[in-house]
Amino acid sequence: MKYLSILAPALGLLATTSAMPLEERDDVQTVHLTFHAGPTNYTMAIPADGSSHDTNHNDLAVNIIDAPDYNAFYQCDFTAVGNPTLASSISPTGQNQILVGPPSPITQVSCQGMCVPTYSDCYRDGQYVGPCCAGFCAANKCRPWVRS
Ligand SMILES: *[C@@H]1O[C@H](CO)[C@@H](O)[C@H](O)[C@H]1NC(C)=O
Repeated sequence: MKYLSILAPALGLLATTSAMPLEERDDVQTVHLTFHAGPTNYTMAIPADGSSHDTNHNDLAVNIIDAPDYNAFYQCDFTAVGNPTLASSISPTGQNQILVGPPSPITQVSCQGMCVPTYSDCYRDGQYVGPCCAGFCAANKCRPWVRS
């Protein structure tokens, strides 16, 4: 009897943990980031699943991070050497950017959540869908920061 009561919760736990990744995989977005360190750069493509990813570039002092397809300033967490200030910005071509001052090595990144691609619904049937990945929400659709 004791054996059964211990086993049942264990099985229940197994069922939930094995089912969850399958459900979440469909929804996890990929975040593309370009880290600029003066004239050089490196890129990362990471899943927005909350997991931490090493940049493997602890030697480069990053001054600008491009995030063309994710609102990374709000939904990503950057671990840096020192304690730089991160500021949200928009490039002249309308791309999300994060400014790092003073320029500092970024060691780890994690991103979480979802965002709405440009020209998709940020409101549907009066319901908020989510933040725009790369622009702003107006008249129920995500619009690019800069019109091309
Ligand atoms: C990144 O650097 C390479 C050369 O190392 C350059 O060709 C490329 O245009 C740069 N990318 C960006 C987005 O600045």
